[in-house]
Amino acid sequence: MRSHSVPVRRSTSFSESAHSMRRIGILTAGGDTPALNATIFGAVERANERGIEVVGIIRGFAGVVDPRLPHVRLNPLLSTIPELTPTRGGTILGASRTYVDPAQVELLNEIKPRLAKLGIEGLICVGGDGTINGMQPLSEMFPCVLAPKTIDNDLGLNYIDEPSEWTVEHAEFGQPGPAKSHARDIIALDELINFATPGYATAVYVVVQGVERIRTTAESHRRIAIIEVMGRDSGYIPLGSSFGQPDIILLPEFPIDMDHLEHRVAELYDLQKHVVIVVGEGVRDQSGRQLGAQTKSYDPAGNVIYSGAAEELKRLLAMRFGDEFFGSRRKHESADSVIFTRKVGHTQRGGRPIKFDRFFAAQLGGKAVDLIAENRNNHVATLQWSEAKGFYLDSLPAYKLRDQWKRIHPRRVHHSLYDPQRFQPSLLGRKYLQTMLTNAVGTDDVEQIRLDTFSPGKLTSRYQSVNLEIHQRIETLK
Ligand code: F6P
Repeated sequence: MRSHSVPVRRSTSFSESAHSMRRIGILTAGGDTPALNATIFGAVERANERGIEVVGIIRGFAGVVDPRLPHVRLNPLLSTIPELTPTRGGTILGASRTYVDPAQVELLNEIKPRLAKLGIEGLICVGGDGTINGMQPLSEMFPCVLAPKTIDNDLGLNYIDEPSEWTVEHAEFGQPGPAKSHARDIIALDELINFATPGYATAVYVVVQGVERIRTTAESHRRIAIIEVMGRDSGYIPLGSSFGQPDIILLPEFPIDMDHLEHRVAELYDLQKHVVIVVGEGVRDQSGRQLGAQTKSYDPAGNVIYSGAAEELKRLLAMRFGDEFFGSRRKHESADSVIFTRKVGHTQRGGRPIKFDRFFAAQLGGKAVDLIAENRNNHVATLQWSEAKGFYLDSLPAYKLRDQWKRIHPRRVHHSLYDPQRFQPSLLGRKYLQTMLTNAVGTDDVEQIRLDTFSPGKLTSRYQSVNLEIHQRIETLK
């Protein structure tokens, strides 16, 4: 369960440094996403305008806790280094899932003087909810702000007072137990806090292509395809896959009614001789059991590592249908070979970001610089949307994302965005997706595919990793 409890003070103000901030740090924490470089680029360009130097810290919080503080100057003489391009996926700074434990007081106390040696007065952390927790103890020592990113699109709220509606089922040893949301029935899209996070649109673009490509195999071979996509406990990525027109979409927020699912799969198979199902990696059955999450492994941020929701769903469907179902339809193959699974996997997180992500990631990076320069310590830059204004930037204090036990919960797909009867987005869900994705791919994205994919030069030279160039620029404390 990814909800973390950390000691939290609302926000510390550092008024003296606000007026004279000349140098800031930036780091990318958590899993990579396609739009991280775009965020850093936007931050550095804005810093150039404001006359602020930006130091990129290598490998997220792992760099901050390293006594050598490996870093790169991203805008010497207030001009952005050429390696930093918004179209490059991943992060030139490197990322890690290392976080600073608030209990490690000694380690924490070393960080401020370490950054001060480089003249760093404030820190922009690019990340998701785990990063807000990692940033919290640091924000009590010097100004920090968050520029959001995550392909899961789970950093934000369905509406501003949602955190106060989380309840816990039981408390153990004075600690809150598993949390439950009592979200209200209807939301309006302009109430969403952080409409979308950079990285989400590109992940959905990759998933949509995957669904369309797997469809033709299922269609030709009369098979049932189960495609597993990322997102942990949030179903935004499977929801977005609806642009690829899967027949059935299953989200972690809606426990699977197996009888209803079996009935719908059979109906579709009889109708069109194949079925395409998209399943979010964190889906659950009606007893709350996470499909295929047999491993109890956790990554360093406390996230459960998911393994095999699609495989488990295949097993359940094959058991229910048996070989007879397909035999009686003159398909002389076993249920095990008719039903096949594919994970879209890390391709969702990689490669060039599409226009929507590039543009808004850069804007949010710029906003983060403004926030830190304006002394909005421990604030989060957000992307908002309203019918009247379209997309616009805003911010909120990080504590507003926390429940009464100071925990941050991944934003879940609100039930008004999905229709579990049809296994498809609801009317509001379709509006949400259209608003963001209809024009999300730029003409330059298309042109890049045309010009670059089979460029002959690629056959004559090896891949040139940006890490080599960045390595030349890395400095450390003496
Ligand atoms: O949080 C982003 C995410 O891509 C999740 O959707 C996924 O479960 C996880 O990270 C995978 O993490 P890793 O790259 O560490 O395997």
